[in-house]
Amino acid sequence: MYIMIICGAPGSGKGTQSDMIAEKYNLLHLSTGDMLRQEVAAQTELGKTIDSYISQGNLIPDELMESLLAHRIDTTSAEIKGIILDGFPRTVAQAQALETILADRQLTVNALVDLDVRHDELIIRLLNRGKVSGRSDDNITTITQRLHVYAEKTLPVNKYYIEKGMYHKVDGMGTKQEIFDRICRIIDQTL
Ligand code: AP5
Ligand code: MG
Repeated sequence: MYIMIICGAPGSGKGTQSDMIAEKYNLLHLSTGDMLRQEVAAQTELGKTIDSYISQGNLIPDELMESLLAHRIDTTSAEIKGIILDGFPRTVAQAQALETILADRQLTVNALVDLDVRHDELIIRLLNRGKVSGRSDDNITTITQRLHVYAEKTLPVNKYYIEKGMYHKVDGMGTKQEIFDRICRIIDQTL
């Protein structure tokens, strides 16, 4: 099974590109943000806890995220050709946990694609989306905190994958199609 991680700052285009990749290569798009928002929408006790982190722009605790992800992988059909992990791992601890979760299932990460987008462009994209998304974290106060958390907790994950030789930086500026073409070149080399 092919496993690709797509990462990048909030608003860098992870969700947009994952949908395009999933369709072209027939892979499962697994977004931890979408998983968490579904739990919030279901208004469960867990959902209420999750919402308090998301709306403040903070990460939910590693152990909780790791167990939700492992459960999601285990309930995935054995038929699928591969998975695009969007929004996970977001801390070095999650990257280490992912390695164990996958190894326990005789799986491994094939590539990580890091979407590189200018700071001002990220804010423009997220504020634009905020006009229609209804997402509790698409406002300037929470966006600022999300970008801060990204720089502090998530950027160090790149080094982890650079050392494993799986890291691919992709220019995330330009049209959606231009960026998609850049990503496809990497998938075609690592598939
Ligand atoms: P998550 O849902 O993952 O949000 P995020 O990382 O902040 O990223 P976004 O989904 O906002 O942006 P994106 O990169 O997907 O870009 P998109 O394609 O939408 O996480 C949300 C929260 O959940 C976290 O803050 C945390 O609380 C929690 N969470 C999630 N995972 C977790 C984890 N592993 N551990 C702990 N907590 C976790 O694009 C953005 C906009 O730009 C769209 O409107 C799009 O149409 C537009 N756009 C895309 N590409 C282009 C382009 N090329 N040109 C112009 N516009 C474009
Ligand atoms: Mg997203």
